[in-house]
Amino acid sequence: MIIRLENIAQYVGQTVTIQGWLYDKTDKGKLQFLQVRDGTGIAQAVVFKKDVSPEIFEAAKRLTQESSLIITGSIRADDRAPGIPGGFEIGVSDLQVVQIAAEYPITPKEHGVEFLMDNRHLWLRSSRQWAIQRVRSTAMRAMREWLDNYGCLEISTPILTPSAAEGTTTLFPVEYFEQQAYLAQTGQLYNEANIFAFKGVYCFGPTFRAEKSKTRRHLTEFWMVEPEIAYCDLDQLLEIEEQFVSHVVQTCLKTRSVELKYLGRELNKLANIQPPFPRIRYDEAIERIKQLQSETSDPEQKELLKIEWGDDFGSPHETALTQQFDRPVFVVGYPTAVKAFYMEPWPGRPEVCKSADLLAPEGYGEIIGGSERMSDPNLLLERIQQHGLPMEPYQWYVDLRKYGSVPHSGFGLGVERTVSWICGLEQIREVSRFPRLINRLYP
Ligand code: 4AD
Ligand code: MG
Repeated sequence: MIIRLENIAQYVGQTVTIQGWLYDKTDKGKLQFLQVRDGTGIAQAVVFKKDVSPEIFEAAKRLTQESSLIITGSIRADDRAPGIPGGFEIGVSDLQVVQIAAEYPITPKEHGVEFLMDNRHLWLRSSRQWAIQRVRSTAMRAMREWLDNYGCLEISTPILTPSAAEGTTTLFPVEYFEQQAYLAQTGQLYNEANIFAFKGVYCFGPTFRAEKSKTRRHLTEFWMVEPEIAYCDLDQLLEIEEQFVSHVVQTCLKTRSVELKYLGRELNKLANIQPPFPRIRYDEAIERIKQLQSETSDPEQKELLKIEWGDDFGSPHETALTQQFDRPVFVVGYPTAVKAFYMEPWPGRPEVCKSADLLAPEGYGEIIGGSERMSDPNLLLERIQQHGLPMEPYQWYVDLRKYGSVPHSGFGLGVERTVSWICGLEQIREVSRFPRLINRLYP
């Protein structure tokens, strides 16, 4: 019977088969300790000279790192046995070598990040990278699960688009026959067409931004899940967001605790992530950052934290602000001037818009950007002009406001930033399978 190592605990006392690769090996003379990974976990397999034929014992001795192999043996529980999940050992009775691997470039010694990134196609096999992708997959499934249950319909939106939605400075141009096209920065504008047919929708896919800076938070290709809902105002949207994010975090905590522990994540910090999330106005956020700026004695921080009402937050501001919270915090009502053209003005305060970003705690910062959308066609036309955007490609978008316009809202959550926070990582690039950065397109 072929089993998966993630389920090893169910097979104690039984003889089973595992198809996998050699992760590491220790030669102790008559005993060969093989760390075998099968893509779902790692377990220690012990080849004892007395228990197997001389050919099998010799085959075990010859194994190199990443050799592919099929082993059969009996499972025993042993608290000291290393592995993921760990605590189980396989007493090998049979071993079949599928291929002896060539000398593997990634050894257990320390390697530089650029070297590892150049070998990303192999690096993904390392336990840490493996654990991150397992959490990512679970997080993405939890996102779909929550939205499907809420009644949103998943509708994919175009990747080739004729226009900008999130500012013209980060567009990736694509030659589209005789026309100029761009890779999608967001699916939002199309979602807004879709809600009038389906009420609640979401798109979930890759989005592209020509980010020219190297930061710990930016990729040029990242995944975003974007729900959009008709008859929904900003207050209702925030309730949806806090339920949604809490479900994602709690699902990861429940089903990926082995991986999160392997990554050294403090699980109690994730257990805290329950609604309601605090809500503060942008105005209050500015006051808090100013306060932090005046209190710090570190001259570099003093410079980085400088801010005035009307400025957008930079990473240092979000980091300092979110270190004050033990769960994500909503910052509500940003200045209209720093946000996209499509946001509804704040009633009685036209310099502010009905926008809210969700900032993850522990210094992680923005994971969601969302807003109530502008519902008046004339104001929308005015905004498109103010932003220096061409009218033509937005004609259809303005049209939506003429035929049964309603208050509506939506948000976009960045998958890599969110998983980076859930896993407690320093760098967003590890969450991407094959990261695309200003200086990286390989592998
Ligand atoms: O705040 P943003 O730009 O919002 C939008 O694109 C809206 N149209 C979404 C919507 O309302 N439907 O991006 C949303 C999120 C950010 O909060 C962040 O998590 C992620 O997308 N994001 C990035 N992640 C990685 N690298 C980048 N360069 C990112 N830019 C945005
Ligand atoms: Mg944003």
